[in-house]
Amino acid sequence: MFAFKVLMCSLLVMASIFDMASASKPVCTDIQLSSRGYRLKTEVFHDATSVVAMDVLKRKSRSSCTFGSSYGFHGNTVWVNNGCRADFRVCYKATWVLVICSSEHFRPAMCPIPTGGKRIVALDLYKKISRSACRLNQSFYLRGNAVRVVDGCRGLFKVTFENIPTY
Ligand SMILES: *[C@@H]1O[C@H](CO)[C@@H](O)[C@H](O)[C@H]1NC(C)=O
Repeated sequence: MFAFKVLMCSLLVMASIFDMASASKPVCTDIQLSSRGYRLKTEVFHDATSVVAMDVLKRKSRSSCTFGSSYGFHGNTVWVNNGCRADFRVCYKATWVLVICSSEHFRPAMCPIPTGGKRIVALDLYKKISRSACRLNQSFYLRGNAVRVVDGCRGLFKVTFENIPTY
């Protein structure tokens, strides 16, 4: 009977685990950048370890926007130069992942975090799904490399890792 309960329990826990974004999946964002007075302009993505792609969506300047000579990226930094002004789409490896975790029927659940070996520096509620409250250290907790939820808290949690930009 005990073994059966343990099995049922782990099945419920398994069912509540759904990893939203893997640690390696890039996040994309649109941004306008302008090289005023033909000067170099940089923008740091503080929640990125590295930019993986940068594309011109719409050029706004008369000066051309050419990858490598008037725009580009390096580590978690993007840049424009030589009078290039444009809307860009920047894709980067984020320093965070979203993990869904659900305390079904008010039972506790543990949801593993795909850390990729990185150190966790913060756990925040990203979006509450349940009617029950989700409060840090009251109904959700960081337990090693897992999110623990209790008392009917169900939500999407943002786990932030230590940022070591890669160049
Ligand atoms: C939550 O608990 C952790 C340790 O378990 C502690 O480091 C952290 O400061 C607490 N946060 C809040 C907001 O209580």
